[in-house]
Amino acid sequence: MDGRRLYDWWSRNLWALRGMYGLVFLGRERTFRRRSIAALDLDSGDSVLELGCGPGNSFAPLRDAVGPDGLVVGVDYSHGMVERASDRIADADWENVHAVQADATEPGLVPDSFDAAYAAMSMSAMPDPRAVVEAAAACLRPDGRLAVLDARPFQRLPLSVLNPLVVPVFARLTDWDHETDIPAAVDGAFETHALRDYHGGSIYVATGSRPQANSGPAATD
Ligand SMILES: C[S@@+](CC[C@H](N)C(=O)[O-])C[C@H]1O[C@@H](n2cnc3c(N)ncnc32)[C@H](O)[C@@H]1O
Repeated sequence: MDGRRLYDWWSRNLWALRGMYGLVFLGRERTFRRRSIAALDLDSGDSVLELGCGPGNSFAPLRDAVGPDGLVVGVDYSHGMVERASDRIADADWENVHAVQADATEPGLVPDSFDAAYAAMSMSAMPDPRAVVEAAAACLRPDGRLAVLDARPFQRLPLSVLNPLVVPVFARLTDWDHETDIPAAVDGAFETHALRDYHGGSIYVATGSRPQANSGPAATD
């Protein structure tokens, strides 16, 4: 099954997605979303692009962070996911949150157009995460920030002994690219970057920020 159809299936079975998050976040999904969104350092009125927004699980905390005058745009290539996300927007009556069906790996984002970009549990489901990180960096304004909340195989003993058992299962269930080093891609695309990891290194938040417009070398006479 190709990735888009796989996620159309998940969109009809959101109970299963919730169950999987319960396992990988050990019941602390909300904490990890809030923590990774805090890393974006959003201000009231900011604009934020969410890549692979799924059913809009991060929309509420993103909207809380940018306030009613800010803007949240979620993109997802699964029609079913965009429908679920649009239902959530309609139910909450958010006028400044939008869900758009688009492939995040295809170029087309307007350069310098967002204050921040965010990806939760989605970057590693995309075919070319490095290209997506670079496209996200390009669509950010000077001083723009990217935060990626994602999962990778356990990085440390003793939990890493479980990798041969759990990695193939999750790879099949979620179209998971567990080999591309996404934190390294964030490091390469951003001047300032940071990585924090949890649960034996299997859950991480990678952040990058562009420099301020006026932070280049000082002019000399
Ligand atoms: C595991 S779900 C995560 C959804 C949501 N971000 C969350 O935190 O619950 C991964 C999402 O990435 C989306 N996705 C995967 N590849 C994509 C691509 N190339 N472009 C846009 N969305 C993509 C899938 O459709 C799916 O909704």
